[in-house]
Amino acid sequence: MTDVTTIDRLRAQFDQQLAGAATEQDIRALRDQYLGRKGGVLATLMKQVASAPAEARAALGRQANELKSAIERALDERKAALDATRPIAGAVDVTLPGRPVVAGHRHPLTVLRERIESIFSRQGYEILDGPETEDDHHNFEALNMPPEHPARDMQDTLYLRQPFARPVWRPDDGVTAPERPATLLRTHTSAMQIRYMESHRPPVRVIAPGRVYRRDNLDLTHTPMFQQVEGLVVGERVTMADLKGTIIGCLRELFGPETAVMFRPSFFPYTEPSADVFIGCRSCGGSGCAVCKRTGWLEILGCGMVHPAVFEAVGYDARAVTGFAFGIGIERLAMLVYAVDDIRRFYENDFRFLEQFPH
Ligand code: DAH
Repeated sequence: MTDVTTIDRLRAQFDQQLAGAATEQDIRALRDQYLGRKGGVLATLMKQVASAPAEARAALGRQANELKSAIERALDERKAALDATRPIAGAVDVTLPGRPVVAGHRHPLTVLRERIESIFSRQGYEILDGPETEDDHHNFEALNMPPEHPARDMQDTLYLRQPFARPVWRPDDGVTAPERPATLLRTHTSAMQIRYMESHRPPVRVIAPGRVYRRDNLDLTHTPMFQQVEGLVVGERVTMADLKGTIIGCLRELFGPETAVMFRPSFFPYTEPSADVFIGCRSCGGSGCAVCKRTGWLEILGCGMVHPAVFEAVGYDARAVTGFAFGIGIERLAMLVYAVDDIRRFYENDFRFLEQFPH
């Protein structure tokens, strides 16, 4: 017997089922259950209404139709709400957590080079840039390295093929004589000493950082390209004491105020006297370990008083001026400062390595 309570009960039952419908399949199942043409709840209800007593039929029919529309509407709304939350294929899922932004930073060798530059520029030194391709004159000859000098050996120097020397065009003078051709990759930044002095009168106070090249194979301590910082000071009464004070000051700024510094006589063709400079081993504090090969000292740089032959080569009066020069290897220094045992790491660009350093 169909009556108003039956219809209300059906409505309550539907509402309850709809509340539990979470997926598209749930909604489809509900639609089949209630609105299916054959055997659907409403189809059955309509049949019962048709056989109801005549006086109740119209009212029941209206209510049954209302229920049917209400169910259709509710199912359509729920379906639309579900569709709205479904991600569109290929669209950005704004609910995912963001990817962290990796900020770039300077390379540890750059950071160290800039620290050295800052130490010297604060003392009034000019910072020079120079060519990486050089000629024999600047890289060797004017630095008092005659043709038979062992440092010029093919083993060490990377020579460039020079098919012909091109005339140089200048707008005002037309074609001029060929410039001295570049024939090699500079083996040290000392070439910049010559370039600077050729075009400037004393006094001189400069550093020249830059890349240098040697015919070396890659291993723990060698790369065919590495970086140096050259220093040169020339003036009227520049002494070895000035050299020592400058070097000790620089090394104590880099390694700390208590750092022990040792000068040991050495040889370079372009300085006389020459010295190798060592600092007390930071791993063992000077008592001797594997890092300092049991000597207690680590070699840091080469230096000396500028050889008179160098002054003569650039047209300076060797009786009127004196000077000192030094050359620091940046990679070597970085290995000591950061305790890195393989120089190749600096050039492999592995972020896990590079991110360890202060930048
Ligand atoms: N040119 C040397 C080298 O490449 C380093 C050096 C030593 C530079 C002594 C100098 C110096 O200016 O005086 O190993």
